[in-house]
Amino acid sequence: MSKGTYYVTTPIYYPSSKLHIGHTYTTVAADAIARYKRVTGYDVMFLTGTDEHGQKIQNVANEQGKTPKEFLDVVVGEIKTLWETMEISYDHFIRTTDDYHERRVQELFMTLYNKGDIYKGEYEGLYCTPCESFWTESQLKDGKCPDCGRDVQVTKEEAYFFKLSKYQDKLLALFENNPDILEPKSRVNEMVNNFIKPGLEDLCVSRSTFDWGVPVPIDEKHVIYVWLDALSNYITALGYPEIKDGEFAKYWPADVHLVGKEIVRFHTIIWFAILMALEIPVPKKVFGHGWILLEGGKMSKSKGNIVDPVVLIERYGVDALKYFLLREYTFGQDGIFTNEVLLNRINSDLANDLGNLVSRSISMVEKYRGGVVPALGTATEFDEDLKKVATNAYLALDKKMDNLDFSGALEEIWKVIRRTNKYIDETMPWALAKDEANAATLDSVLYNLIDNIRLISILIQPFMIHTSRGIWNQIGLVEGEATQWDAVKEANLYPVGTKVVKGESLFPRIDIKAELEALEEMAAAKHVKEFPPIKPEITIDDFSKIDLRVATILDAKPHPNADKLLILSLKVGNDERQVVSGIAKHYKPKEIIGKKVVIVANLKPVKLRGELSQGMILAATDDADFLTLVTADIEDGNIVS
Ligand code: MSP
Repeated sequence: MSKGTYYVTTPIYYPSSKLHIGHTYTTVAADAIARYKRVTGYDVMFLTGTDEHGQKIQNVANEQGKTPKEFLDVVVGEIKTLWETMEISYDHFIRTTDDYHERRVQELFMTLYNKGDIYKGEYEGLYCTPCESFWTESQLKDGKCPDCGRDVQVTKEEAYFFKLSKYQDKLLALFENNPDILEPKSRVNEMVNNFIKPGLEDLCVSRSTFDWGVPVPIDEKHVIYVWLDALSNYITALGYPEIKDGEFAKYWPADVHLVGKEIVRFHTIIWFAILMALEIPVPKKVFGHGWILLEGGKMSKSKGNIVDPVVLIERYGVDALKYFLLREYTFGQDGIFTNEVLLNRINSDLANDLGNLVSRSISMVEKYRGGVVPALGTATEFDEDLKKVATNAYLALDKKMDNLDFSGALEEIWKVIRRTNKYIDETMPWALAKDEANAATLDSVLYNLIDNIRLISILIQPFMIHTSRGIWNQIGLVEGEATQWDAVKEANLYPVGTKVVKGESLFPRIDIKAELEALEEMAAAKHVKEFPPIKPEITIDDFSKIDLRVATILDAKPHPNADKLLILSLKVGNDERQVVSGIAKHYKPKEIIGKKVVIVANLKPVKLRGELSQGMILAATDDADFLTLVTADIEDGNIVS
């Protein structure tokens, strides 16, 4: 009989063929809790999918000469293949381009519009005309468009808004009355104090500057803007607006939305408010997990480390990767990934603790009892404790899983593994085997070892299904009574007289030094740098319109209103002028005084954050954000051509 329903979701992924292990973190965690709940008797719905609308996707598809849908079908196919490789046991994969989703988002939009919670207004933002994109102040790079580096203009357009402000008090009350609704707890304070209390502004939910999106049903010029479209996936996948019957009635509200910490705000403020406006319950919990980072920062900038899940799976297997991700990092916190932490974890926990236990125990049954597991004989003084630890483990595991403490849950299982290894040291079967008088004690020791391995193989199932099956093969079990979840609560269910067969090592020990070298070589060979494409051709006449000159920096000081900008006084031949430049992160003012740099001297002057800028100095940058000024060792005023 089912213990009830359990609905778990991951965020829907932006389609990218280069998902790294950081991306797989949310999904691996969701898979573990989904498998755990299934195996412990729940009727589970595990939802994942892809977030496919918006300007960026339209641009990438255009660059590749494809329609967005052509581009997306390929990339989404790759994501599904990755989830297959990783044995992600989702029940439903939603694409925001699925017909049913688009239709249901439109219905949802109209419900909110008819209720007055969506209204038409004017959106004011910083607009980059060539990219047709709106940006917020904080998204700009050195005051310019973060995509193309050009100037942005303050622009207004008609748009639809969701009355987020109306839900401010309700949201505050929700967090106050349900402190467990968002975890870890520290994120509740962040939401309440940094975002809700200072005041919520209405949210722009449509755009008319691009058309790759779900059309606003009553206004053809507009498409529904990404977050309203994306967040709704959690209910459209269940059949919303049909709420009385079917999957929505069965699974909503979700038991947990698992999300990375950077999108907690969208999930707990915007999404909760939308649900309040739709007058349907909010999810029972949102868990904002931490990021997996590299020593130098974000994973996307990986250099020496292999972060491609497919490569890691090929080398160490999918179970090792999943185990590592869940065991190494505390779910709510950030953690650092290096090849070395991965290899150490595999060697210590999987090769040494688990792998050795299985191979040693089976070898001893083969050596001392011809491979046939004997019945219990004479008990040892250690048996009671051994069995208590093993048959009680599921209780602590259950608590940890309910708290989404994956690392702690695995630690509970490893306590059993380590206790069983200790039992070998305590009973010393090799010594018992020397004297026929101890035969009945040796029988017990061997039986207890194999029976504990059976218990362990059941406990690890939600996390490492291959390894469970591999162990069953070696200890001669087929899936059935002795391997089902309830059989984890009882000792001595292993069928006496079963033959064990030593198979391949579950986790071969890795020579860490040699493996690290191999990985580093691989990373170096793989790291073929991608440079931005060369811009369309211009003629020499076009180029000659640009007047490049050598300029001496006479003085430099920080911009009073912008951290990233320096105000430079330049001497250009007989001329003096002021240029504002976005180099403050890279140079201290006194470092550059006296340098001879190259400027675009005939660029139309503009005001940058209130300071006049007459031209632009040239610099080179790379994708790691390193910047160096272009200099010329010649008198200022001279032409650069
Ligand atoms: N499309 C949005 C989510 C919309 S949900 C209605 C999105 N997509 S994403 O592809 O950028 O991210 C998907 C998930 O991967 C997020 O939970 C994100 O936090 C997670 N991660 C991406 N990089 C990560 C790490 N380096 N470490 C851990 N998780 C990370 O956001």
